[in-house]
Amino acid sequence: MEFSDVVRTRRMVRRYDPDHPVPAESLQTILRNGTRAPSAGFSQGWDFVVLSEPSQRAAFWAATTDPDDEPDAWLEGVSSAPVLVLCCSDEGSYLRRYAEPDKGWADMDEARWPVPYWDIDTGMAALLMLLTAVDEGLGGLFFGVPPESHEDVHEAFAIPHDRSIVGVVALGRPAEAPASASGSPSRRPRRQLSEVVHAGRFGAPYQPV
Ligand SMILES: Cc1cc2nc3c(=O)[nH]c(=O)nc-3n(C[C@H](O)[C@H](O)[C@H](O)COP(=O)(O)O)c2cc1C
Repeated sequence: MEFSDVVRTRRMVRRYDPDHPVPAESLQTILRNGTRAPSAGFSQGWDFVVLSEPSQRAAFWAATTDPDDEPDAWLEGVSSAPVLVLCCSDEGSYLRRYAEPDKGWADMDEARWPVPYWDIDTGMAALLMLLTAVDEGLGGLFFGVPPESHEDVHEAFAIPHDRSIVGVVALGRPAEAPASASGSPSRRPRRQLSEVVHAGRFGAPYQPV
């Protein structure tokens, strides 16, 4: 697929075809491309926990939902995904990397970090996975784990407590229903270039060619 078509056609997929598992080769390509993401200091402070067995996915949904609640349309749809990839970030690996002689932040002071690069880089890896899924004829969704469920997900999958769960990439073949039909705010209009790009200084109009 043309790269620009991959970017243009990618949408978050919230309902999957139960009859189409993710081929092992596609999953490996998706994961491998994820690890091609850029990372500050090439720290690569990410880990990915792949849940491809039904029992593993059931354990994830059990850890993140209330059994007394009726599943809503979002959960009905997303829980049909045959693969979930838990994307974890590792702040410590950045603090250690930047304490090395070529970086020199030996105090490992968190205040040196203008924004959490460990979470940003893990998000970049997740985006590469989403794009690769499209290129593989599949679809994906990045979604967050509710704050109150983080501890349970750490426990369920033995994720060390120095890792943060940045989010989850669901993968699978999109169901025939419109990809973003349920639970999506994607009917909001896309902000135009002229609105989000500032030429030279904030507020100065940018003229798209
Ligand atoms: C950091 C982040 C968190 C998101 N969390 C959720 C989520 O919890 N549930 C969900 O259905 N979609 C989630 N989304 C998907 C957005 O709703 C979606 O990207 C946006 O509506 C634009 O739609 P599109 O990606 O299909 O173009 C998230 C996206 C990002 C980047």
